[in-house]
Amino acid sequence: MKLYDVYALYDIAPIRGSGCRVYDSNGKEYLDFYGGHAVISIGHAHKHYVDMISKQVSKISFYSNSVVNPLQRELASRLETLSRVNGYDLFLINSGAEANDNALKLASFYNGRKQVIALTQGFHGRTSASINVTHTGQQHQAPINHGIDVCYFDIDDVDGMVKEIKKGRSAAIIVEAIQGIGGLDEIESVVLQEIATACEASDTILIMDEVQCGYGRSGDFFAYQKSGIKPDIVTIAKGMGNGFPIGGVLIDAHKMPAVKSQLGTTYGGSHLACAAGIAVLDVMADEKLIENTKEKGTYLRDALKLLPKVKNVKGRGLMLGVEFDFPIADFRKSLIFEQRLFTGSASNKNLVRILPPLMITQEDCDLFLDKMDAGLRKF
Ligand SMILES: Cc1ncc(COP(=O)(O)O)c(C=O)c1O
Repeated sequence: MKLYDVYALYDIAPIRGSGCRVYDSNGKEYLDFYGGHAVISIGHAHKHYVDMISKQVSKISFYSNSVVNPLQRELASRLETLSRVNGYDLFLINSGAEANDNALKLASFYNGRKQVIALTQGFHGRTSASINVTHTGQQHQAPINHGIDVCYFDIDDVDGMVKEIKKGRSAAIIVEAIQGIGGLDEIESVVLQEIATACEASDTILIMDEVQCGYGRSGDFFAYQKSGIKPDIVTIAKGMGNGFPIGGVLIDAHKMPAVKSQLGTTYGGSHLACAAGIAVLDVMADEKLIENTKEKGTYLRDALKLLPKVKNVKGRGLMLGVEFDFPIADFRKSLIFEQRLFTGSASNKNLVRILPPLMITQEDCDLFLDKMDAGLRKF
């Protein structure tokens, strides 16, 4: 059987990783400033992570959500402490798209509405509801995905969003505080505050999609925290498992109390996934990775602006977008094959996305800048 050929692949096969480096089958080393698409948070093959998962798999890796799993409770409690949010319950699933599908479902259960407000350039996943509300993925929507009425607004169109929210027709508005695939634009705090107030007044659910910008990547635990709002739902995945598939929905359970069997999953919150999730939080706290993200992010942002041909640098923390005035596809390819440096792309064809593991050191940053500089001078 051959593989269903849906991915545009680079002809490279990393078989091993360590920290922010990966190695291919020929032993060649690559600097990983892509983090496997913002997934690698504490670094490849971190010893504590490997130990926790190995120990757990030798005890029990999975049972079922029909019995008590103390690791789920430990993960929820640890997450509450490190993120400094309170008043939420945690529902565990396996991916970002699943997190958003469940969030949208909960919002619609809550107020009985079918319309959703979303942002142009937003990305929320590829499953049924999440692709339906994804502007950047419209070409990937099949007719079967058109069950939700969606109103799209630009990230700075506060009047349009507030006017639509106040009509009281929408189940939810779903927002990334910093857009990932869309190209690193950040919604202004004052816009988020106005959205939150309008949602409260019209019983519309505010969902913050923190799948990519959350879990420390922005230099705050959640990127929306800068604005001081309290969303009704927060969705998480990616950095949460450092590569182990795990996602979560943080739900204001005072507003939306749990109803038995309303949501469910076979695999979500397995023992093994929770061990991975707890190991990530251990390392984030012990190694002060959020502080490191803030510090290295500021350093890189300033230094990137000084490189040749760079037009603009967007984003914050270790979620940066370097904008040029030419399409970057060939440049990115040259970075991989000539400089041995992994970076990411975005729907903005002129923008390179920088999403390294949150544990990068000063030396890693300087090596990255040297490789970018050398790559740009040759290109
Ligand atoms: C902001 C955001 N939401 C949701 C998703 C979907 O996550 P997953 O691919 O885990 O389903 C992504 C994936 O890139 C994302 O960037």
